[in-house]
Amino acid sequence: MTGFPQLRLRRLRRTETLRALVRETKVDVKDFVYPLFVVPGNRVSEEVVSMPGIFRHSVDMLPQEVEEIAKLDIPAVLLFGIPEYKDELGTSAYQPEGIIQRATRVLKKTVPDITVITDICLCEYTSHGHCGIIVDGYVDNDKTIGLLAETAISHAEAGADIVAPSDMMDGRVGAIRQALDKNGLQHIPILSYAAKYASAFYGPFREVAESTLQFGDRKSYQMDPPNWREALREVEQDISEGADIVMVKPALAYLDIISRVRDAFNHPIAAYNVSGEFMMVKAAAQHGWLDEKLIILEILTAIKRAGADIIITYHAKEAAHWLLSE
Ligand code: PBG
Repeated sequence: MTGFPQLRLRRLRRTETLRALVRETKVDVKDFVYPLFVVPGNRVSEEVVSMPGIFRHSVDMLPQEVEEIAKLDIPAVLLFGIPEYKDELGTSAYQPEGIIQRATRVLKKTVPDITVITDICLCEYTSHGHCGIIVDGYVDNDKTIGLLAETAISHAEAGADIVAPSDMMDGRVGAIRQALDKNGLQHIPILSYAAKYASAFYGPFREVAESTLQFGDRKSYQMDPPNWREALREVEQDISEGADIVMVKPALAYLDIISRVRDAFNHPIAAYNVSGEFMMVKAAAQHGWLDEKLIILEILTAIKRAGADIIITYHAKEAAHWLLSE
């Protein structure tokens, strides 16, 4: 008995109960990380025009926000900060009273159980918007990684549970690991943005984070979208330097990369469902052109099916609502 008519794959699809019994991938609220944008000021909660439902909050508004997140069972947040001032060296990234450091303390005090992941990068803090220090018009790798390591220490000292370098410099994971260990922070894991592509899908984020470039582009450090073998080398490099979790970013146009990393490595994988991916769905849904709930759950399921353990997504709250009411 090998084929049709004995073999009928439709048998297991006849009812929802049968389909649920053989379902291979289930998205869970516990997979989600919700990005949070923190801005200077007081009593600020402003919605991002191109990202409906996503707000930029001042530090004093964070307790309310994180309580809502925790109530939805979302286990983790990823913090991005917009500093009061920017300069060539991104100095406000690594000050004890910096925006992320203050935000982290408030979040951990309000909900001690929430996992706070901090984005380690200079692009929100530099006047030129690049992810590192500029020397002769070029982002200088080795000068940058020292500052990233300093930033990581100050985040961890403020209470961050995981640090997540997103700059794509070579050697930054190793530099951060060494610096953390030297400062008694050997228990803090590194989630590296390992395969991060120079993608047009970050458009809305750069407005939110005010990290639009004053000159050039990020192609000399972020990856070239046509490359997949190089992604495996990037992941390998970060793992060899001590990354505990590796990220693929963006997610949706890069599901093949997630899947190849899953096949090649045993480390946990995070996928970043980025701002442009979020915005496209929202724009279409606002026109009534798509069924928003079905589309979002399908997208999140696809990212998990490709091999991601952790999904960083602006959809986390709405998806949590839907998943909890199922
Ligand atoms: C850089 C960083 C970026 C994002 C996360 N970290 C932007 C960039 O590299 O230009 C993008 C996130 C998104 O688009 O949702 N610190």
